[in-house]
Amino acid sequence: MQKYICVKDLENAALELLPKATRDYYKSGATEEQTLAENSRAFRRLRIRPKCLVNVECADMRTKVLGNEVCLPVGISPSAMQRMAHPEGEVANVKAAEAEGTVYILSTIATSSIEEVARAAPKAIKWFQLYIYNDREVTKNLVSRAEQAGYKALVLTVDTPLFGIRRADIRNKFTLPPHLKLANFDGDLSTKIQSTKGGSGLNEYVNGLFDKSLTWDEIKWLKSITRMPIIAKGILRSDDAVKAIEAGCSAILVSNHGARQLDGVPATIEALPEIVEAVKEYNTEVYLDGGVTTGTDVYKALALGARMVFVGRPALWGLTVGGQSGVQRMLNIFSTELEYTLQIAGTPTIADITRDMVCHENFYCKL
Ligand code: GLV
Repeated sequence: MQKYICVKDLENAALELLPKATRDYYKSGATEEQTLAENSRAFRRLRIRPKCLVNVECADMRTKVLGNEVCLPVGISPSAMQRMAHPEGEVANVKAAEAEGTVYILSTIATSSIEEVARAAPKAIKWFQLYIYNDREVTKNLVSRAEQAGYKALVLTVDTPLFGIRRADIRNKFTLPPHLKLANFDGDLSTKIQSTKGGSGLNEYVNGLFDKSLTWDEIKWLKSITRMPIIAKGILRSDDAVKAIEAGCSAILVSNHGARQLDGVPATIEALPEIVEAVKEYNTEVYLDGGVTTGTDVYKALALGARMVFVGRPALWGLTVGGQSGVQRMLNIFSTELEYTLQIAGTPTIADITRDMVCHENFYCKL
């Protein structure tokens, strides 16, 4: 795995290996894919302002999220159907997170079950990503199984009344390959995604089953059925962040769903500052995913107030290339790059990364 020295190397290798429909599914964004490009471009518009001659002998990347210590402020975001990338799918991914001491978020629409993932990595900090189905008994069952299996938080996706338009999936008539199934379900719900009426089988599945009538009131219901803290994933506006907290959520994950929902929405790193500012008085943790591919991206997000970042596609690329070792390699790349950044920027610990360490490139346009 040592020959992969950056996340881009893993991505290039993975894109060569994956079958076309899977590759397109993982890499696509919504419609014109402008936000997909902006998610990473927006990081490039930020500058790190290093401090010199700081003693950085004791660089330390540990931090705490929702009371749990992690070795690295980079966790794994939920992404669907990971056995399309590698035969061990979610199981390999969670084992990598366990080995590297970070958080793994399992998707509702996974190809390994809640229990299988929990058994594979009993010591990992596992969170469960939830989609709310029209059938509340189905939803309730997922939540209680996750709680029972030791998952530490519920990551409620709040940006998905339906899935975005991903053109490649329509062209490819994307469906889950027949040797796999949605492992958190039985019967029809586990295999329905393998058929299509002519477009994206995934979108058809979601359209028929996810509840489009959801409002913030639903948090009350969720809180009545679980003691797990709820993290609202998919927030891009400060007023929504406040609504989430007032409805009872414990943390906010700033996310545009990997730019897969609505094109033209902000890059997540652009949306982060207003959300951090809005929730300051509540003392709520804020996380971010979207476009994070280097240690300096992680650093910039932390400087702008994220407690931790999450990566989705980089984990899929690592998984494709080498299963558990590929994902560990991906996390090691982030860890090395972040450790270098902490030291060279003169901020040896996570707590040292203050807001003034990063500015927008316009700061330097005074000439
Ligand atoms: C799943 O959440 C997807 O975006 O395809």
